[in-house]
Amino acid sequence: MNFHTRKWIKPEDLNPNGTLFGGSLLKWIDEEAAIYTMCQLGSNRVVTKFMSEINFVSSAKQGDVIEMGITATSFGRTSITLRCEVRNKITRQSILTIERIVFVLLNEGGMPVPHGRTHIISSDEQFKNHTNVSI
Ligand SMILES: CC(C)(COP(=O)(O)OP(=O)(O)OC[C@H]1O[C@@H](n2cnc3c(N)ncnc32)[C@H](O)[C@@H]1OP(=O)(O)O)[C@@H](O)C(=O)NCCC(=O)NCCS
Repeated sequence: MNFHTRKWIKPEDLNPNGTLFGGSLLKWIDEEAAIYTMCQLGSNRVVTKFMSEINFVSSAKQGDVIEMGITATSFGRTSITLRCEVRNKITRQSILTIERIVFVLLNEGGMPVPHGRTHIISSDEQFKNHTNVSI
């Protein structure tokens, strides 16, 4: 699993208890997972379909740096299933795990459409046909 995205916990990310607000973290995860899915399926017309149990195993406080890891665990016909882990970047202590996040690829009418993908595509392969795109 690659931990691509880091976040620096700021005052606006805290709950009244003074620790990281779970809703902020879930928003970041959903966006990270959507971007991962777009890169894997080659389309931005993807939606979150399902999230399994969310296990907040430890917290983060203001000033901490956290990192989010996402990997695909299976490819369906129109869906992709991901696993997510968030951890403290410095201590490597796990903050959250989500075993299954399912995204579905849609057509222009908003209906599920086959993506034809069967395995994880490396970042070098993802945009090889888009010579004008720099990421
Ligand atoms: C995504 C959506 C079009 C799927 O519709 P649907 O009637 O469930 O479609 P299907 O039954 O054909 O299922 C599509 C895929 O989702 C999977 N799926 C459906 N329900 C699921 C569930 N509860 N858990 C896991 N996967 C599920 C199916 O297995 C299928 O995958 P596959 O083709 O790889 O086998 C529809 O549910 C929808 O529009 N949901 C709202 C999505 C959204 O707005 N997300 C943002 C939330 S804020």
